[in-house]
Formats: sequence, C-alpha cells, structure tokens
Amino acid sequence: MSQIFEPNRDFSREARIKNMCEFKELSLQAEENFEGYWDKMAKEKIDWFEPYDTVLDESNRPFYKWFIGGKLNVTHQCLGRHLDRRKNKAAIIWEGEDGKKRIITYLQLYYRVNRLANLMKNKFDIKKGDRVILYMPMIPEAAFAMLACAKIGAIHSIVFGGFSADALRDRIIDASAKLIITADGAFRRGKPYMLKPAVDEALKEGCECCKKVLIVQRNFEDIDYTPGRDYVYNEIIMNESQHCDPEPMDSEDPLFLLYTSGSTGKPKGVMHSSAGYILWAQYTMEHVFDVKENDTFWCTADVGWITGHTYIIYGPLAMGATTIMYEGTPTFPDTGRWWKMIEEHRVNQFYTAPTAIRLLHKLGKNEPKKYDLSSLKVLGTVGEPINPDAWMWYYNEIGRKNCSIVDTWWQTETGGHMISPLPGATPIKPGSATFPLPGIMAEIIDENGNQTPKGEKGFLCITKPWPSMIRNIWGDSDRYVKSYFGDCKKDGKSVYFSGDGAMYDDDGYIVITGRTDDVINVSGHRLGTAEIESVLAHHFNVAEVAVVGCPDPIKGEGVFAYIVIKGEDSIGEEIEMIQELNALIKKEIGNIAKLDVVLFVPGLPKTRSGKIMRRILRSIAKGEEITQDTSTLEDPLIVDKIQNLVNC
Ligand code: WTA
Repeated sequence: MSQIFEPNRDFSREARIKNMCEFKELSLQAEENFEGYWDKMAKEKIDWFEPYDTVLDESNRPFYKWFIGGKLNVTHQCLGRHLDRRKNKAAIIWEGEDGKKRIITYLQLYYRVNRLANLMKNKFDIKKGDRVILYMPMIPEAAFAMLACAKIGAIHSIVFGGFSADALRDRIIDASAKLIITADGAFRRGKPYMLKPAVDEALKEGCECCKKVLIVQRNFEDIDYTPGRDYVYNEIIMNESQHCDPEPMDSEDPLFLLYTSGSTGKPKGVMHSSAGYILWAQYTMEHVFDVKENDTFWCTADVGWITGHTYIIYGPLAMGATTIMYEGTPTFPDTGRWWKMIEEHRVNQFYTAPTAIRLLHKLGKNEPKKYDLSSLKVLGTVGEPINPDAWMWYYNEIGRKNCSIVDTWWQTETGGHMISPLPGATPIKPGSATFPLPGIMAEIIDENGNQTPKGEKGFLCITKPWPSMIRNIWGDSDRYVKSYFGDCKKDGKSVYFSGDGAMYDDDGYIVITGRTDDVINVSGHRLGTAEIESVLAHHFNVAEVAVVGCPDPIKGEGVFAYIVIKGEDSIGEEIEMIQELNALIKKEIGNIAKLDVVLFVPGLPKTRSGKIMRRILRSIAKGEEITQDTSTLEDPLIVDKIQNLVNC
C-alpha cells in the first residue's frame, strides 16, 4: 500500500475546506438535499441577470437541464462583475516563448473583449447561436475571442493548433461555422510556425458555411490574404467601440462546442451550457485549487483542450483570479523554463499533465533546485494516470514536500474536476485521484450495477447529473445517448459511463486504471483508435489495420499500429511505407497522432464471425501475457506469429 501524505497544516488552517470532517459534511449535505445543495451554490456564486425557477429538470433523461428560467452572461461573471473591485488587477499575465510579456488587467480585458464582440457583430454579422471556430496559438487574443463569443451569445469551438487542415475542415463543416478566428502563426521551440495556411487549405472545399476569416498578426509572417474573406484583426479592431452590452443568455444556452474523440466514428462536438458550466468552473477553482484573492494561478494546458477552457480562462476569470498563459514549450530554451516562470511570477497554484512532469523529470531532474519555488501552495495534474515515480518527484522537488498534489480526474464531457483531493483536507497518495467532489455521485460499478469490492476493477460511472455535464453531441443526439448512457445501469436506470475503468483501493481511495474503450491517451491527448485506423486504411497498400495503445515512458501511451499489407512485394520497403503512413496521419489528423510502433503482420486475430479481437492486440502491445482463449479464433496460430514478430 502506498504512503499517505497529510495536507500542510498551515495551508489547511487558511483553506476553504480545512479537514475531512468539513469535506464529509459538505458531501452529506449534497447527498441529503441534492437540489438544495446546487441551488445554494448557484445563488451564492452566479451573478444572475434574472433568477431561475427550477434547479434541475430530469423529465427528459438523459437530457438534463439546470437552473431553468435563469438569465446570465458568462462574461459578466468573468469580467463585468469584477470591475468594481478588481478593475486594475491583472487578469491575464501572458509570456511569449521569446520572453515577451503582456499583462492585461480586468478593465483592459473587458474593453478588448467588447471591441472584438462588436467587430464580430458589426463586420461579420455574428449573432446569438452562430458558431465561430477558433484556431489559435496561445496568445491573449485567444482569450479575447472566446469571451467575445460568449458576450454576444455565439458558440465558440476551438480547434487545437496541432490539428491538420483536414481535421480543421471536418470540424468547420460539422459545426457549420460562419467565421474562423486564427493567427498568422506563433513561436514554438524558438522557431515561428504557421497557422493561417492550414485555414486556407481547410477552406478550399466543402466549407461554404464559412465566409470570413479574422487573422491576428502574431509573428507578422508573410502569408496570403484573400480579399473579401480575410481581415486583419490588428488593423481593424481599434475602429470598434469598447462598450458592448452582454447578450442575456438562458442558463441552458450553449456556451461552446469542443470536439473530442470517441471510440467510434468521427470526433464528437461536446456541447456545454452557460450556467452549469460556469458554476462548475468557479466551484472547482475554489475547492480544488483553493485560489485566494492575491494568488497567481498557472495551468499549462493549451486553450484548445478542455483543461485550457476551464482552467486558463473561464475558471480563473469567473473567480476574479490572475491567470498565466504561456505560449511555448516547457523545454525552451531549457528544462528550467517553467520553474523560472514560477519563480518570477510567484505562482501559487500550478496545474499540468503527467506527461510533462515525466519529461521534465527525465531531462532536467535537478533543474528545479536552481529556482525559488516557495510561492507554490497547490500542485495539480490532469489528463492521464500519474505514475508514483513522477508523483514523488513532483511532490518532493517542485512542491518541496509543502504542497498538496491534486490529481484531478475529469473529462471534456464533465466540464471540470469530478474526482480530486481537496488540498486543505484530503490525505493524498501517489496514483490516486482520491474521492468524488461534494455533490458528485461517482461510483465504480460492475456489469450488474453493483459497486465493486475493494481491489476489483469496474466501470467509473456518475450516477446523478451534475451542473456542468455535457448537454448533447452537436447534431447527433442519438450518439450522445448511446455513447454515455448505453453501457451502464444502476437500479435499472441508465447512468453516465465515463469510458474509464477504476477501482477502490484498500482504503477506499479511487484509482483510475485507464480507458476501457478504444480511446487512447497520448501525452494527455485523447485519440480514437478508430479515427487513426480509418486514416491508415486509405493507404493503397493497407489491406487491414488495427490500432491500439502501447506503454510509453514519457507520453503515457504511444500509438501502436498492426498493418496487414496488400502485396507481398512490398516487404523490404517497410521504412518508406511507415513514412507514407505517418504522412497520411499528419495530413488528416495532425502530428499528435503519429505512429510510434508499426508492426507488419500476416493477419489479425479474428473470431470466426470476423470480429478483430482487439484485447489480444492490446495485450501484445503492452507485452502482457495472453490470457484470453485463442482457440475460437479463425486462425489460432496468428497470435503466436504476431508475438514472434514482436520478439524479434
Ligand atoms: C483521462 C481531460 C487518470 C481519462 C481533462 C479520461 C485521467 C480522459 C485523469 C479525458 C486522471 C483525465 N487520472 N486519468 N487524473 N484525468 N484522465 O477529455 O481516461 O481530454 O477519460 O479531458 O483522460 O480526457 P479529456
């Protein structure tokens, strides 16, 4: 059993939730009066334009609705309401990879957002409910664009800058977006890279919905501009007024779409609401990071992922905190970059992914010692299971044994943290996300809906709705129901299944064991193996393909592809073929899905009915023993043949 670390006593004394008694008391309140608990939170935390009349409507399960009848605007929650007390407080501290810094106060941010909101309304005719794609680097204008959409009720959908033109096009078309906001490029590892050419490429076919592109000049690259379609932000933004009234939004009006991978088909546009989402962003900032008025909060994610949405932008700003945004990579110009920034900005809460911790541990083990990291109070991780080695290094070397580590489990679909320690209360252990937050009914159950005993793996489910839950999949309600409410039942009722496996350890702590479906997690990026397979199948010489995850010491998981080729002649030309396969991946998805291992095999293990036994392929890729019965396979010898190839 792993060691338990108690919270720092000085920290606990000042924390919002100071001990496990307080934590249990809150959880009990939520259990005993579920709606009352959320009613209290929503009244306390949201600055409503008009009050709601119903806390939760469950009449059309699983299309739950929260805070019905209420009106608000998320930008009022994040900006407008802070102007009295915090107008000159830093809202965003931005640092470019080249060391350039910008500090944007709440009042400045408010004006910037208003100008851009006016520009979208006046120049591009963007109205409430219209979709706007953001394909942006990590620059403050990404935040302005998100909030400007929210101000006028447009629905933003951010596409991570690492996605290719083809992936961008799919999302523009699926969302039927009217406008794209992008940048000419940005800097990464000391070099400029371009974004706008990918937008040009994406718009070449099938994107009739999208007539306008707004370009922020970040590095003043020499790029093509299409007259009548492309507009330069820097040239026109100052013509707009800095005053703009917020659009009153219904609680359930969508705030944004964010595409994420599932186990089948194309990426799905996860829809989030206005009130429930912003309540959650703020509730978790307060409880999980325990951010105080004078704190500086830093989440290293990219705004293109849900973590960036909730914990760079919406969460910190909703609570009136100072948030750091960093453009570059953690290893530029050296592996001390992040620690130097923590020292310089006196960061109090730091939130990153296990993959980054492992990388910095490996490449710059002693680097943190060179910096004063004493401002840190809470350290967070997210995105994948964290191995005890990385956890201990984070705890000892970054936190100097003074900081709680909040291992936060959640998903794009949950909007914010679901299972996590509370830093002033929860005794923590390496490798465990500990307990559900007060108000979250998370349970690990078996296929019969019974809670699993300690030490046994089961399905991680959420048995009651929560305010920031996914509301739907854009344009595909059936998929929403099937993806999340099709697999698990409790007391005969369908409950939300996360796709993750988990178990209770001997002390009842929750340990996440990883995805149980065909989703893999590469450097904390969620990828559907089906998506990768369908790209590889386009190669003229691929007869069959199966993609699974394989262990990777830094990335957590790598992409492992089993390929059956069409012509035997190609044997010997494998290196070229791997290059071609990766070129296809780069074009259709982006480099984040690059193949780590390619194994050319004579066939795939299939049942007599033709179903690929993916579990066997997963076990082989992990180097595990095959425990499944292989006698029912169409060709029982194929497993040995594949294993021999792996071994040689
Ligand atoms: C995984 C990221 C273990 C999990 C916020 C989940 C985790 C998927 C943790 C969601 C954690 C996230 N420990 N695994 N603390 N946090 N995951 O949608 O498999 O990009 O289903 O959201 O990441 O990934 P997503």
